[in-house]
Amino acid sequence: VRELELDAAAVRRMVGDVLDRLGPWLDGLQTSRMTTPTGGHRAAAALRRDWPEDGVGWGPILPLLDRALATSLDPTSPGYLAYIPGGGLPHAAVADLYADLVNRYTGLWMPAPGFVALEVDVLRWFAAMVGYGEEAGGVLTSGGSLANLAGIVAARHRRFGDRPFHGARIYRSREAHHSVDKAAKIAGFPSSSLVDAPTDERFRVRVDALRAQIRADLDAGLEPLAVVGNAGSTAVGAVDDLAALADVCAEHGLWLHVDAAYGGFFGLTERGRAALAGWDRADSIALDPHKGLFLPYGTGCVLAKRRADLRDAHAVHATYLPSSDADPLAWDFADLGAELSRPNRGLAVWLPLVMHGFGAFREALDEKLDLARVAADAVRALPHVRLVTEPVLSLFAFRAEPPGLDPESIERLNRRWIAAVDQKRRVFLSGAVIELGFVLRVCVLSFRTHRDRVDALVEDLRSALDEALAKEGS
Ligand SMILES: Cc1ncc(COP(=O)(O)O)c(C=O)c1O
Repeated sequence: VRELELDAAAVRRMVGDVLDRLGPWLDGLQTSRMTTPTGGHRAAAALRRDWPEDGVGWGPILPLLDRALATSLDPTSPGYLAYIPGGGLPHAAVADLYADLVNRYTGLWMPAPGFVALEVDVLRWFAAMVGYGEEAGGVLTSGGSLANLAGIVAARHRRFGDRPFHGARIYRSREAHHSVDKAAKIAGFPSSSLVDAPTDERFRVRVDALRAQIRADLDAGLEPLAVVGNAGSTAVGAVDDLAALADVCAEHGLWLHVDAAYGGFFGLTERGRAALAGWDRADSIALDPHKGLFLPYGTGCVLAKRRADLRDAHAVHATYLPSSDADPLAWDFADLGAELSRPNRGLAVWLPLVMHGFGAFREALDEKLDLARVAADAVRALPHVRLVTEPVLSLFAFRAEPPGLDPESIERLNRRWIAAVDQKRRVFLSGAVIELGFVLRVCVLSFRTHRDRVDALVEDLRSALDEALAKEGS
C-alpha cells in the first residue's frame, strides 16, 4: 500500500514552496496590473488531464497551478472594482492551514467545543453589530446564497410548519440578488410566490406600493409571508428603507429578511449604521464575511433575531448523534443550517478579528466609503456622464448619455467604454443591465484598494471615454 501520510518535513516543504512561489506575487499586488482571462478557455482546456491512476508527485503541481492562476480574473488586486470585491485576507489561508491540519469537527458542539465556542463568539459579535439581543443566533455558511436560503426556510417554517404554502407571497424588488429567488425555488415556492415590489428613483422598495400589494393579496385570499430588503444591492448599490419595511412587516405579521451580503459589515461604521437603520428589527439577515470582512471566498453568515427560528426550521433528530440542547452556550451548527459536516469556518473569521480588532476593519470600511465618494464625484464631473445611483455605501452605477445618440448607440458606447477601461489593466470594472439599459458600476470593497487606485480609475475612465466617443463618432 502506498503511503498517503505526509510527515511534518514534507508539509513544511510544500508550504514553503507555495510561499516561495506566491510571496513575490503577494508583495507585488499593490503595483501589479490586473490579469484578464483572455484566452482562458484554451488555456483551461490545455490544463485538463485524464484519470490520474498514478500520481506525478509534488514537483509538477505548482507549475500547473501557475497556469490556472494566469487564466483567471484577479479579485485579490486592489484594482478589482467589479461585481462585489473582497480581496482575500491572507490570514484566512493560515487559519485554514491550521484548521485543515487538525481537522476538527465543528458541525456539532460535542466533538470540538473550543472551536465551536470561537465561532459562536464571532456570531455573537456580528449579532451585536446588528443590535440583536441575547436570543439571536446564526451560523457561518459557504456564502450569502445559503444565508439567504436559511432565512427564507426559517420564514416558511415559522408561518407554515408542515402546511402547504402555495398561496405564499414573498415581496422583493427587482434589485434583489438572484440568490433570493434561487432560495425561494430551492425552498419549494412556485415562481408565482415571488412578487416584484416597485421601486423609487433610488431603486428602493416603494413602501406605499408594497402596502397596497400586500392588501390586494390578502383580499385575494393569498398569504403574504415575507419581505426581503436590500442592504446594498449588487447591480446599483441600493439600500432599502429597512425601518419602513420593518413597519410594514410588523403591521401584517410578515417575516423581514435583509440581504446584507454586500452592505452588512458597513454596520461597523457610523455612516453604514445610519444607512442600515432598522435592520435590527429584521427576523433574519444574510451577511458575507467574504465580501465586507475581506475574507477569501467561502464564508457567509445567516443571523436570526431568535436562534430558535433557525433551529425549528432546520433541526432533525438523529439517534446516532450527540445533542447539546441542554446547555445554552453549546450550539450545534448542524441544527441551525443545511450542513452537518462542514469546514472549521469560524477560525478564518475569528483569527483576523482577534489579531487586528474590529477597529482596524471599521477604519478600512470607512476608507472604502470615502473612496467611493471621491470616485463618484470625479465620475459625475466627466462630460455627458450621469450617476445612475449615488454611493449610499461603496457602490455606484453610471453611464454616458451624450446628446443626439439613440438608445442603441448609447448602449454600444457604454459597453465600449467599460471594455476600454478594463483593457488598460489598472482596474477591472463590471457592468449591469437594469431597466434603463447597460450601466457601468464601481464597487470599492477590497482592503487593498487605496486612493492611488481610485485616481487610476478616474484617469482610465476619462481617457477610455474619449476613446469610446471617438469610435462612436467615426
Ligand atoms: C447582495 C448579494 N446577496 C447575495 C449574494 C450571494 O452571495 P454568495 O455569492 O456569497 O453566495 C451576493 C453575491 O454577490 C450579493 O451581492
